[in-house]
Amino acid sequence: TMKNELNQLTETVKEPETKKAFKKEMDNFFSLFNRYLQESAKGTEIDWDLVKSPKPKQVVEYDTLNDTTLTRDYLNKLAVLKLNGGLGTTMGCVGPKSIIEVREGNSFLDLSVRQIEHLNRKYNVNVPFVLMNSFNTDEATAKLIKKYEAHKIDILTFNQSRYPRVHKETLLPVADSIDSPIDQWYPPGHGDVFEALSNSGVVDKLLAEGKEYLFVSNIDNLGAVVDLNILNHMVETKAEYIMELTNKTKADVKGGTLIDYDGKVRLLEIAQVPSQHVEEFKSIKKFRYFNTNNLWFHLPSVKRVVQNHELSMEIIPNNKTIKHKGENINIVQLETAAGAAIRHFKNAHGVNVPRRRFLPVKTCSDLLLVKSDLYSINHGQLDMNPRRFGGSAPLVKLGTHFKKVADFTSHIPSIPKILELDHLTITGNVNIGRNVTLKGTVIIVASDSNTIDIPNGSVLENCVITGNLNI
Ligand code: UTP
Repeated sequence: TMKNELNQLTETVKEPETKKAFKKEMDNFFSLFNRYLQESAKGTEIDWDLVKSPKPKQVVEYDTLNDTTLTRDYLNKLAVLKLNGGLGTTMGCVGPKSIIEVREGNSFLDLSVRQIEHLNRKYNVNVPFVLMNSFNTDEATAKLIKKYEAHKIDILTFNQSRYPRVHKETLLPVADSIDSPIDQWYPPGHGDVFEALSNSGVVDKLLAEGKEYLFVSNIDNLGAVVDLNILNHMVETKAEYIMELTNKTKADVKGGTLIDYDGKVRLLEIAQVPSQHVEEFKSIKKFRYFNTNNLWFHLPSVKRVVQNHELSMEIIPNNKTIKHKGENINIVQLETAAGAAIRHFKNAHGVNVPRRRFLPVKTCSDLLLVKSDLYSINHGQLDMNPRRFGGSAPLVKLGTHFKKVADFTSHIPSIPKILELDHLTITGNVNIGRNVTLKGTVIIVASDSNTIDIPNGSVLENCVITGNLNI
């Protein structure tokens, strides 16, 4: 059985301290696994009749928050955490996603550090910067942050849990020893942040330093800067948890949303929606906003919910295929998301924030935007150029030739000017020269074996370029 296998795994650990920590990890994994078995047996489909749009006090409009003058006191109680367990694999990079270069030699990590340093300088406070790493990211991260040792910033790191991947068919762990290869383990999603914060002792450390609030966000969300209005609001409403949401557009219909479920606020993800209601879920009318994963936690409450085992976040099974002893095997890894914890906290609610607080970089299309003249950079913060008409970013779709950062950079070595661009599609083997300006709607399609080179200095406005053309 699973229990036996986990005990055997634990027996492969010799050093007592390591063994204790490993056992705790396996116990936590086991309770997640058990919950998964129970839930798959009884089915936890939600009752759609109980799903309502949130009430105004369940999702507060950002514009209605009033700022107070107590800011500095509150800032002294704040720490900032970036979720840094993820790799840059989808963008074709090895190592942590956070070390990908975004602007002028600065990685996601560097930009976050700049933001906190600026905040601390401006208000003469000492907001610590916390990174939740995974076993996949901690080494490379440690190397990168070495350069900040001499800086006036407190950087704290801890690792999230390392759980065993299980065979899809037998539901038994692939690993047979603590030293089993790295691809037999996984970081169980950012929902792990609560347990990892507590188990690592970081919650206690922060509380001992007088920190009571934690602002958490994805490291790849460049819009997630500390916001004093939200911090004030959180303190005033005695909320144990706040989730930032932002208005949906047709491009983000798949994101999780907050709902009123039987009078309580809850996160609803598309995976939980019965198929006949998926269209309704995607509609902008009933569910106007989606989760940005900018989250604010009240630290004493985090400690409480973990100690009392109050958390039971929805489990997201993630199926993958890995190589094992020369063969492909199907595995499943059980994950949770931090947003799903909202229902376990008191006075928890959402705040509907401006779009600028959600600037994620998931693809090289996003990378092109954030590297461009659309934004300027101030103390690590990206601000949209005020001359941008309408204040929203253009729609950029780059084809498979631009999937990896290295390929993107070789095809587009110098980012075109896009201040007046509305829509850009590029597919096929296309190379963009230096000093190119794109305006309106520009579509460049190189078919199959063709190459299109856009010469230096070109200005392209409302045009379609196809085939093997020399312009
Ligand atoms: P992802 O970039 O993998 O997820 O992680 P996503 O699907 O786009 O976004 P969500 O899950 O809906 O929010 C988002 C952030 O969470 C971190 C990643 O490093 C990234 O900053 N993460 C993810 C962890 O820290 N641990 C994990 O196990 C997974």
